[in-house]
Amino acid sequence: MVSTLRSENRPDNLSKVQLLNTSKGPQLLVNGRPFVVLGGELANSSASDIKYMDPVWPRLKSMHLNTLLAPVYWEFLEPEEGKFDFTLVDYLIDQARAHDMKLVLLWFGTWKNSMSSYAPVWMKKDHKRFPRTRNDSNRSQEIFSVFGTQTLEADKKAFSRLMKHIKEYDGQQATVIMVQVENEVGMLPTAREFSSVSDAAFAADIPRELATFLTKSNQPIRPELNDKWVANGKKTKGSWEAVFGSGLMTEEIFQAWHYAKFVNEVAAAGRKEYDLPMFVNASLPRPGKRPGEYPSAGPLPHLMDVWKVAGPSIHFLSPDFYNPDTQYWCNLYTQSWDNPLFIPEMNFDETAAAKAFFTIGHYRSLGFSPFSIDSEDKPGKELGKAYELLSAMMPTIAGKKWLGMDGFMFDSKDRVAAAEMVDYKISIAHYNTMSWASAKKDSVWTMGGCIVIQVSADEFLIGGTGAVVRFECKDSSFVPNFLSVEEILYEDGKQVVGRRMNGDENHQGRQVHIPTGEYGLQRVRLYRSPAIVK
Ligand code: DGJ
Repeated sequence: MVSTLRSENRPDNLSKVQLLNTSKGPQLLVNGRPFVVLGGELANSSASDIKYMDPVWPRLKSMHLNTLLAPVYWEFLEPEEGKFDFTLVDYLIDQARAHDMKLVLLWFGTWKNSMSSYAPVWMKKDHKRFPRTRNDSNRSQEIFSVFGTQTLEADKKAFSRLMKHIKEYDGQQATVIMVQVENEVGMLPTAREFSSVSDAAFAADIPRELATFLTKSNQPIRPELNDKWVANGKKTKGSWEAVFGSGLMTEEIFQAWHYAKFVNEVAAAGRKEYDLPMFVNASLPRPGKRPGEYPSAGPLPHLMDVWKVAGPSIHFLSPDFYNPDTQYWCNLYTQSWDNPLFIPEMNFDETAAAKAFFTIGHYRSLGFSPFSIDSEDKPGKELGKAYELLSAMMPTIAGKKWLGMDGFMFDSKDRVAAAEMVDYKISIAHYNTMSWASAKKDSVWTMGGCIVIQVSADEFLIGGTGAVVRFECKDSSFVPNFLSVEEILYEDGKQVVGRRMNGDENHQGRQVHIPTGEYGLQRVRLYRSPAIVK
């Protein structure tokens, strides 16, 4: 195992949480134990009221969450400049411990979804010390400028005070396991800020670190950035427009650099106090939108190089999913920089459970977390069943005790998938592809999803919903048959063998299946017979 992260470690700031990059993918260790977040993010205002929160915890527990993602609001943390109030933070930590859960805290600091609505009042009212951006009609917006040096200092001070407090209050127990720095940073309604300071920075030479990266990177450069650089003559010196050409993309690159520098300084200041894994999240643009039409310059895939070079103290970049194309965006986030996948926000609809199986199994994601987890009108029952099942699989998944693992999701359009693991070829399909599935005629299929894990040479663990799994031997002179298929239940934190799944439950030995609407975990033992009987 190799840690890929630059360390901010001093002897007194160490945490009991480690983020490693292993040959089997990223791995989070909490108190030395492998951990995958089965989480949910609170709606924005929930953690501002203890009375509102009190009944939420048992509900989250009944959904088998092991982690809650919860905001820390700057306006409550530092209501008066230099005076800090940790009441809400301590409440979250105490309650998370009482419910045997971990916390990922979200720093709603200078920016929350582009805006600066969570900054304390003493900052909001002081436009001189804390300058704002203006919109395309030259009107002031409640968005602090990235060039506000006092804004940066204030944010660093507050955030490092928060991290110091967490270290003191929780360093031994490590209830807080990661921190998101700011929330969905992004510029609107223009691709970059306009002001005398910003215009001067835009006319200045590009930073040396960026030029060095462009010329010396042994890491493939994202095509969006590289193409602009190449098309403009591969210059290593000159203004942003000289190096990347004029246009919205160049403005976005420029703004991204300055956002990343700012957020990096905040993260570094926090890590000096307490070195927990820190990440940033992005609002994904809708197809066809141009910079300025979506929150621009955030930690998006096409700007990943910029964020990574300008933000070495940030451990990883994360996508927030309110956009259906999960696979497309997950691929983009994991293609370069060893960027581990962590999904802090996913639209909490009836597809969330299947997406948990897919992203955890396929991308070895550090975790999954639908948004607005405390809302009672969401499909919490389904997610709860998925999380219960994933909890049972967790020692194998998180501990990486497997020879092969993959995750899948299907709907009426994408019905089948295939994988190879050691000596086996595996085909996976939506349960509604079965001739007898009553829902096969429905125009929209309930999404199915599963994780297939090869535990040892001829043994598999399969967990999910609405899925059919069949095996073939790679060596076609053999055919695989079932020795046994067992239902695995999860009782008091332990795996317990339930029903022997034979007969109709495995189509008389032809396949493993978990009907649509059911959530199941099955252990499969295979044996191989010669294909041709002599
Ligand atoms: C994305 C943001 O990051 C969340 O805080 C929340 O505002 C959701 N959008 C949608 O409500």
